[in-house]
Amino acid sequence: SVVIVGEAPGREEEALGKPFVGRSGSLLTEFYSNAGFNESDLYITNACGCFPATSKNPKKAQIDACRPRLLAELQAVKPKLVIALGNAALYAMLPNVVSSPDGILSLHGKVFSSPEGFQVIPIPHPAAILRNNSLFPLAVSDWRRAYSIFSGNDAVLKSTDVTVLNDLDQVRDFFQRILPTVSGY
Ligand code: URA
Repeated sequence: SVVIVGEAPGREEEALGKPFVGRSGSLLTEFYSNAGFNESDLYITNACGCFPATSKNPKKAQIDACRPRLLAELQAVKPKLVIALGNAALYAMLPNVVSSPDGILSLHGKVFSSPEGFQVIPIPHPAAILRNNSLFPLAVSDWRRAYSIFSGNDAVLKSTDVTVLNDLDQVRDFFQRILPTVSGY
């Protein structure tokens, strides 16, 4: 499965006890459906477990305080991939990687390993995209990358995908081996 980590519940989410029920949630559904995910592939949670009373964006100390609960959720779910939505989730999952407030805009779409060994892809938060439409295409392609990793079709080569051919005999053998699998031959 895939775990999606948001920022924190808003007032609506706090009242309903469910993550992403507002406008960000609708856009989130658009992104994951467009990429190919089904709801049943996903487990959705937040970097912070409660509505941050002090400010709109949770502070690092609040995210640090919530990290053990988040990691316990991840250890129970054992996801193949974690999607970190926005800077709060990015800091929650990769506290050693992110250092600047625009972290998500330089790190989005790349895959990182968290200190606990989770595979993490940062993607801009839907709320940020609602504020700045120009982020839309980049988020669409990040979501597609996330889906291709989840479904095992990521274009990044695995070591077993590489065959080294040292001389012409090996090239000839290689083609004889693969040609029957090429359709129409
Ligand atoms: N709702 C959530 O649950 N998390 C967010 O990050 C935004 C909206």
